[in-house]
Amino acid sequence: MKILVVGSGGREHALCRSIAASPLCDKLYCTPGNAGIAAVAECLPIAVDKIPDIVGACRRHKIDFVVIGPELPLTLGLADELRAEGITCFGPSKLAAEIEGSKGFMKDLCAKAGVPTATYQRFTDADAARSYVRLQGAPIVVKADGLAAGKGVTVALTLDDALLAIDDAMGKKVFGDAGTSVVIEEFMEGEEVSFFALCDGEIAVPFTAAQDHKAVYDDDKGPNTGGMGAYSPAPIVDDAIQDRIMREIINPTVKAMREMGRPFTGVLFAGLMMTKTGPKLIEFNARFGDPETEVMLPRLKSDLLSLLYAASKGMLDGIDIHWHDYAALCVIMAAQGYPGAYKKGTVIRGLDQAATVADTYVFHAGTECDAAGNITANGGRVLAVTGTGATIAEAQARAYEAVDKISWPEGFCRRDIGWRAVGQTKAA
Ligand code: AMP
Ligand code: GLY
Repeated sequence: MKILVVGSGGREHALCRSIAASPLCDKLYCTPGNAGIAAVAECLPIAVDKIPDIVGACRRHKIDFVVIGPELPLTLGLADELRAEGITCFGPSKLAAEIEGSKGFMKDLCAKAGVPTATYQRFTDADAARSYVRLQGAPIVVKADGLAAGKGVTVALTLDDALLAIDDAMGKKVFGDAGTSVVIEEFMEGEEVSFFALCDGEIAVPFTAAQDHKAVYDDDKGPNTGGMGAYSPAPIVDDAIQDRIMREIINPTVKAMREMGRPFTGVLFAGLMMTKTGPKLIEFNARFGDPETEVMLPRLKSDLLSLLYAASKGMLDGIDIHWHDYAALCVIMAAQGYPGAYKKGTVIRGLDQAATVADTYVFHAGTECDAAGNITANGGRVLAVTGTGATIAEAQARAYEAVDKISWPEGFCRRDIGWRAVGQTKAA
C-alpha cells in the first residue's frame, strides 16, 4: 500500500515509524511532516488545513490509505473529502469529529448514551454564569466552550478564581471567540487517564491507556500545555477497569454515534477522571493523543497499519491487539517560553549521541532542517524522547539518559515525568 500520514508532530513521527515498519507499507508520505519524519517518510509541504491540496496530493501519488493525525483536518472534513474520492482513510467524518470539536455535542451525547461525566451548564451571559458559580460554590471548573488549544480550562479552587475565570473568558476575551460561551462544570476528583479505543463505525476494541502530564513545570505547576510527558501502561487501568471503561463509556458512545447517523471510524480518545465512584469522562478526542502516542506505539506488538486499516474498513470484529510486556515513558523537550511565546530556529545538537542510548526513541515534534543541515526547533513542543524498560522507573531512567545527551540551551523539560507511577513523593 501507498500511505499518507497527515500531521507534523511527535504523534505523527511515532505513527510514521510504526507504519513504515509494516510489511504492508510500500511507500510512506507525510504532509507536512518534520525533520525526523523525513527519515522514514517522504514529506510533502502541505499544511494540515489545506484540504483540497491534501486530496490532490493523494490523487497525484495514488495513495491507497490516509491516516489523519491532528483534529484540525478532521473538523474541516478531510475524512469526508477523501472517502468521496474513494480513498480509504483512518479518522472520523466531520460530523463524528464534533465529539471533540463541540463540548455541547459531547455533553448531549453523554446524556443520551448514559455516559458518566461531570454535570454542567452553558452560559452566554456573564452575569448568569457568575450567579450559577455563586450558587454551586467551589471547587468548580470553568471552560471556554470552543477549541482553545487545551488552555481554556480553569479548575477553580475558590469562588474568586471561578469569577476571575469567567471575567477572563467572557469579559476580557483572553481566548477570543472560544470564550463567547462558557461551560461551568462539576469538579471531579481523582487520577487522570487517557484511554484509547479503535472504532470501525460499528464496534470498538480497546487499544491501551496512558497518563500524561499537562502542567508545564515540575510538581504539576504552571499553566496547562498539550502535554509535557507521558507513560504507558497506566498502572491504574487493570483489566477489570478497562472492561468497565469499555462497557460504561466507549461502547455506549460508539452505539449512540452510529444511531445518530454519525458512525465513528478512527480512534476514540477518552480523557477520564478515575473518581471514587468509578471512571468519569472529562472529554472525548477524535484522534490519538500527543504525547500518549509516543509511549503507546513503542509498546505495540501487533502491526499498527493492519489495525488502522481494519478499523477504516469496518473489520475490527474478532481482532486482538498484542502488546510487549514492557513500559514506556516519554519526556517532552520544549522551547523556553512554551506554552507562551517562544523562539524558533534555535539549533539542537547531540541527537546522534541520544540515538546511541539503547531502548529509546527520539520522536521529532517540531523540528526543521536548516540550509547547513542543522536540526532546528520550529515549534513549542520540539522533541519527544521515549525510553522503554521492564518498569516505568526503568523507562524513565532511559528516557532521561537520552535527554541528557541532547544539547539545546534554548529548550527545557520537566524532570519528574512519571512521578506518580515511579513512586516519587510529590512536593506540596
Ligand atoms: P479539558 O481541556 O476539558 O481536557 O480540561 C483540561 C484539564 O482540566 C483536564 O485534563 C483536567 O485536568 C482538568 N479538568 C477538566 N474538567 C475537569 C473537571 N470537571 N473536574 C476536574 N478537573 C477537570
Ligand atoms: N495529550 C493530550 C492530547 O493529545 O490532547
